[in-house]
Amino acid sequence: MNASEFRKRGKEMVDYIADYMEDIETRRVLPEVQPGYLREMLPKTAPRKGEKWENIMRDVNNAIMPGITHWQHPRFHAYFPAGNSYPSILGDMLSNAIGCIGFSWAASPACTELETLVMDWLAKMIGLPPVFLHENGIGGGVIQGSASDCVLVSLLAARFAAIKDLKSKFPFVEDGVLLSRMVAYRSKLAHSCVEKAAMIAMVKMRELDTDDKFSLRGATLQRAIDEDRKLGLIPFFVCATLGTTAVCSFDNLDELGLICERENLWLHVDAAYAGSAFICPEFQRYMKGIEHANSFNMNPSKWMLVNFDCSTMWVKDRKLLTTALTVDPLYLQHHNSDKAVDFRHWGVPLSRRFRSLKLWFVIRTYGIEGLQTYIREHTRLGKKFGALVRSDSRFEVIGEVTMGLVCFRLVGHNYHTQMLLRAINMSGKLHMVPALINDQYVIRFAICAQNASEDDIRFAWNVIGEMAVEVLEACRSSNENDVLKAIEKLESLDLTEEDDEGITDTPSVPTPSPAIAEKPETEHEAELNDVMDEDEVFLYDDNIPSIPSISTLYETKQRATTRRRNLLLRMISDPKCYNARVLKSMCSDTKRHRSDNAGVKHGLSEDVCSNGTDI
Ligand SMILES: Cc1ncc(COP(=O)(O)O)c(C=O)c1O
Repeated sequence: MNASEFRKRGKEMVDYIADYMEDIETRRVLPEVQPGYLREMLPKTAPRKGEKWENIMRDVNNAIMPGITHWQHPRFHAYFPAGNSYPSILGDMLSNAIGCIGFSWAASPACTELETLVMDWLAKMIGLPPVFLHENGIGGGVIQGSASDCVLVSLLAARFAAIKDLKSKFPFVEDGVLLSRMVAYRSKLAHSCVEKAAMIAMVKMRELDTDDKFSLRGATLQRAIDEDRKLGLIPFFVCATLGTTAVCSFDNLDELGLICERENLWLHVDAAYAGSAFICPEFQRYMKGIEHANSFNMNPSKWMLVNFDCSTMWVKDRKLLTTALTVDPLYLQHHNSDKAVDFRHWGVPLSRRFRSLKLWFVIRTYGIEGLQTYIREHTRLGKKFGALVRSDSRFEVIGEVTMGLVCFRLVGHNYHTQMLLRAINMSGKLHMVPALINDQYVIRFAICAQNASEDDIRFAWNVIGEMAVEVLEACRSSNENDVLKAIEKLESLDLTEEDDEGITDTPSVPTPSPAIAEKPETEHEAELNDVMDEDEVFLYDDNIPSIPSISTLYETKQRATTRRRNLLLRMISDPKCYNARVLKSMCSDTKRHRSDNAGVKHGLSEDVCSNGTDI
């Protein structure tokens, strides 16, 4: 492709993108494809000769788009927002065109210098203490690929600092021996990336309980530290969360920070989602105690209109970070090393994209006030949705609605809410994901679309309300014996840790593609499928690619009764959507409920996924 064709195709692509954004509402939020669908549509090998652009775009329309989950859709309420905006897209386009690999100042000075400048802007916007700024020469900020990277890098820096300190006291003790004694802490609502960071860093990590507001408190941390010190362990790191994934709760930074300072523990603060809200002064109260933190991260690529990837992280003392990560071969050195920042020492990868461009474009286009308006509007809509839920006695809101996330459930057994969520997602009218908060299964409703409106909220609430009628009716009219039969069959399976993985990852949706069908079923998959095969009629006909609307499904009274029963069975037995351990604990809970009949709550056990949704 030469420059003149690029001009032509580039303009067409901009139109294509604008059309996509403007017409997104006409699409189904969730695709209806099955695993392996794309292999059946596209050639198995790459073309020998270059193809026509028209043919590539034809395949985009016919093959790629049908398999897209539309994260920018106004009916997408799952996970957290995936930041997006025209200025950000344009910033990324320019970054791609410049195509520099800014690992050091010398590798592209503007790339490094803009990053340090914009990171200082953003730190000031969210109210971070001045010590975290580059301009003060001790701390500073860096853009990483994800919040997971930020947490890992902080943990590695903390581990390095702790071992260095211990080595000065015990010079003859091996690093490995010291490492085996070190222990880190997080709340049970911390994101799974925190646990993963500990796995990678090979350190023990203790999961701590939260209070009734789902907040990790100082007393809990202090107790754990005291217990561990008595056992001869060496506490060294705490990850606090501001805006937990499951319920957007806030750990008590003020209390945790004082303890970390007193006990000499590194405090990292993960504010992946909620951090963007701190642009609004009224939300900065959640950061009380931030001056005690050693490092802090937030994702503009979640809630600040910046496209993935863009996770921003600041450290109070950049030396502690860079000494943990510096490797300095001759070919990467330059004569300004002592005067400039080299971001290759601030993270895992060497190569880095020019990500600060899109952040800079977004901040300049919207201004601080524009971004505040956006955050406040999402928060207003979140509260509005929370009020709608509260106004309906069939539902309850779990946790406080502080920002753009509302967690709610049907009052009663967990499986009612599970069924409701599944029915909604299958309808294709909305997309949401669940979380497990203590033993309660909740639906997370996140305000995601850039221009989300009250109409969207009302639409979502109407869909939820209509589906709730169907689901509650299904629960009432379903034959409990059939359900219990299915449950008992599931209970007889040996759902070991290893098997859980297989079952959870296995697509259970019938009529798989040939590629999938070739894969032999595991014993448990076969058994689970048997359970489902016992009933020929499911909520939808698996041979029909498009899932019919709920009203079509319930067209006759008689068929509806069968379907309701099967919906319930499927909800309980579908290994694609539900972790086998979840099933198992539900089964035992259901049995308990049946046997003692004394109002024991149907619940999902805490050990199943006590950190809520894994996003
Ligand atoms: C609180 C929190 N931390 C970390 C993450 C992981 O983010 P990333 O995908 O950028 O690694 C998430 C994702 O939603 C999150 O909510």
